Parts: sequence; structure tokens; C-alpha cells
Amino acid sequence: MSMDNEQVREHSFDGIQEYDNPLPGWWKFLFWASILFSGPYFFFYHTGVEGRSVADDYNAAVSANLRLQFAEIGELKPDRATIGKYMGESNWLKVGESVYKSNCVSCHGAEGQGLVGPNLTDDFYKNVIHLEDIAKVVGEGAAAQAMPAWKNRLHPNELVLVSAYVARMRGSKPSMAGKEPYGQRIGPWETADAETKPAEPIKTGG
Ligand code: HEC
Repeated sequence: MSMDNEQVREHSFDGIQEYDNPLPGWWKFLFWASILFSGPYFFFYHTGVEGRSVADDYNAAVSANLRLQFAEIGELKPDRATIGKYMGESNWLKVGESVYKSNCVSCHGAEGQGLVGPNLTDDFYKNVIHLEDIAKVVGEGAAAQAMPAWKNRLHPNELVLVSAYVARMRGSKPSMAGKEPYGQRIGPWETADAETKPAEPIKTGG
């Protein structure tokens, strides 16, 4: 490309001069347009609203699809054996996770570390000794509804699955400092049947 008919600019740096080659209009347009675009984009996708990222969409779709299969598992009973069983069913735990993310994060934290509500990752509980107690607190609420009752807002299976999910939060290590212990230290979960004993605690959140 010939530069002959272009203007040499007046200034010189240590004897080095430059041509006056302005950036093309389309280039400047893209430059400013992408800066302007980034504002609303950032606001929409990165201000922590659940359900707007591709990963959230995917998880919501997976759990919506699993809810369609509720017929397959019938109506789950909120008892020890059932909660213990579903603690080991990673697919169904996704439904529990999505229930947790939509309803419980605001008070118990994304990783169960505790906010207004108690830490669900440690060994200290106030209303819970056995697995089925989790489903009871979640269903009925506690502390004059400071912990709301969910039984009329969740499908019975969702209640069992979120209880299994919460039971598995115990022993996980939140990435942020957990809330101080609340209640008494309790023994390990007793599942009804040794064979359905849950594996390692899951890493929650993220
Ligand atoms: C409005 C805030 C709030 C929301 C939302 C909430 N919780 Fe709670 N939760 C609490 C409080 C406060 C307590 C402590 C109750 C008490 O002091 O007896 C609690 C207690 C609990 C306990 C018993 C802990 C213990 O130490 O006895 C469990 C389990 C629990 N919540 C699970 C859930 C689940 C699952 C959800 C979502 C379906 C949920 N919570 C939603 C505030 C909340």
C-alpha cells in the first residue's frame, strides 16, 4: 500500500515522524458500540440474578425435565429411609439443588454457609437430630416462621429432595467463612439401610 499521497504529521519523536492514518469509521463504530453494549450486558448477566446465565438455564432445564419424571418415583415420603436413599441419587439431587437455589439461598447462603438462617454445613443443629427432622423443619417452618414453612409451596417430592440436598451439605466446605455454630452438635446421619449410606459430602455451590 502506497503512503505517498498521505500527510506526514508535524510532530516528531527523536526524529521519527508518522503518517496521519485515522482509524476507519467502522472500526471506531465497533469500538464505541462494544463499550456501550458492555454496560447493559454486564448489568443483565453479572449482577447475581439467578436464572440468567447459560449454566443456570441448563440446570433449570435439567431439573424441569426431572420434575416431569416425578410420576416415575411416585410420591416420596419425608422419612429417614427415603431421604437417605435420595442422598445417593445424584440426578435427583439436582432437583433438590434447584429448589434450594430458588428458595433457600437468601437466608442460608449459596453454599449453605448461613446468613440470616443457620449454617447448614457444620455439625450443629437446633431443630434437627435425624434426617427426617430436616423435612419436618422445611415443611413446617421454625422459630415463629423466621424459617418459613414450605409444605404448601413445594411439591412433596421437592420437599424430600431439597432435604436430601441439605443433608448432604453437612460436612461440605463453603468457600467463604461459615456462620457460627447454632444449636447442639449432633451425631452422623443415620440412614435406614447401610447400603444406601451416602458417599462423600458433595461440594455445593459454585
Ligand atoms: C426467610 C429466611 C429463610 C428461608 C428463605 C429459609 N430458611 Fe431455613 N431457617 C431460617 C432460620 C431463621 C432458621 C432457624 C430457625 C430456628 O431458630 O429454630 C432456619 C432453619 C433451617 C433448618 C434447621 C437448622 C437447625 O439448626 O435446626 C433447615 C434444615 C433449614 N432452615 C432449611 C431450609 C431450606 C431447605 C430452605 C428452602 C426451602 C430454607 N431453609 C429457607 C431461615 C430461612
